[in-house]
Amino acid sequence: MIKKFLDLGQQPLANKYLTKKDLVKKKVEYYYNLEIGFNTSSKLVSILNTVPSRKMFDKEYPYRASMSQTMLNSFKDLSMNIIKTFNPNLIMEIGSNDGSFIKNFNKKKVICVEPCSNVAKITQKMGYKTFINFWNMKLAKKIKSKIKNVDLIYSANTLSHIKDLNSVFNSISHILSDNGVLIIEDPSLLECFKKISYDQFYNEHIYIFSLLSIKYLLKKHNLEVFNIKKITTHGGSLRYYIKKASNNKLKINKNVKTHLEHELNFGLDKYSTYIKFKNNVEKSRKKLMDIFSKLKKKNKTIIGYGATAKVNTVLNFCKIKNETLDYFLDTTPNKIGKFMPGSHLYIQKYNKSSTNKINYIFLGAWNFKKEIFKKEKKYIKRGGKFITHVPIPKII
Ligand code: TMP
Repeated sequence: MIKKFLDLGQQPLANKYLTKKDLVKKKVEYYYNLEIGFNTSSKLVSILNTVPSRKMFDKEYPYRASMSQTMLNSFKDLSMNIIKTFNPNLIMEIGSNDGSFIKNFNKKKVICVEPCSNVAKITQKMGYKTFINFWNMKLAKKIKSKIKNVDLIYSANTLSHIKDLNSVFNSISHILSDNGVLIIEDPSLLECFKKISYDQFYNEHIYIFSLLSIKYLLKKHNLEVFNIKKITTHGGSLRYYIKKASNNKLKINKNVKTHLEHELNFGLDKYSTYIKFKNNVEKSRKKLMDIFSKLKKKNKTIIGYGATAKVNTVLNFCKIKNETLDYFLDTTPNKIGKFMPGSHLYIQKYNKSSTNKINYIFLGAWNFKKEIFKKEKKYIKRGGKFITHVPIPKII
């Protein structure tokens, strides 16, 4: 049974940044009600009103993994580790975006799968075999018939975007060699609850996985987690190392059991934990709005930093518009000069002097706090402040 525990209100599509022309023409934005539920049997957390994939992942998809050094470093470290530990003959990445991960591998050893043609064309141009497709059984069969089984499948921040998870794991099972390894990483529900980072929920994140729910799902497909790593990307994620249940060569690391215990100790299997989270989210909204309203009463100027997809959940849930924030700074070419969905806040191109005359910055990209604080040493030194809502709204 799916029990609803959170309602983040009417939300526009998180990655649908608007052009000036869209605003002038009063383009009608696509809205949906962002409600979140907990499946008491499978322990899977999902958004309840999903948006068709084709509306979200198209030829204008703005996200570029390469915009963050943190992501690039994480991909590089993982790639080195994959070569050293598994030495695969053929790797497939599902959701290859702009090639930030696969560029660490030999072109002959990699297959990319990416439905957004604008980013898929980047890896094609780089010379990587790229299928511009959604991941499904039809594609798995096509690749298997044309090429062969794959030894290693990697997918970061993609599988949680696909509604039919049974089809996802069925098709992965079909193409993965018997001794193959599947590595997936996605935001961690435990971290999301600990950090009260409710902005992990938006239309693209259909699911926020836990080890509990992943284990349940994989069992149906004769797959199992044999290792798990906590990673810091995307605000706290889990990297799951998965094998076929029939493969006895890979032993199950004891940290799988340890992590499961952490999740159970936190109460991720109990509905009461989800209600507690909902109450924390309400408190978080109130506190953030109090901070903004106090600063605005003192006529302070506040801007946003990092026009992330997730910050749109916060802006639209807390009804933050241009009375509060003047604009957002961002480095992503496809976002610059556009307007945030729903709030219509302007996205200005970041440069080194962007923060020179600013005193308060709301961290949209709170997940890159370390990287941003390093970049903004001068701003911090002269007394510039950051505002974050994670884990508790405060001025830093
Ligand atoms: P993400 O959280 O979905 O990865 O998005 C991060 C966004 O933040 C992306 O639009 C790029 C932006 N960003 C900056 O503008 N400056 C930075 O220093 C970093 C790290 C990210």
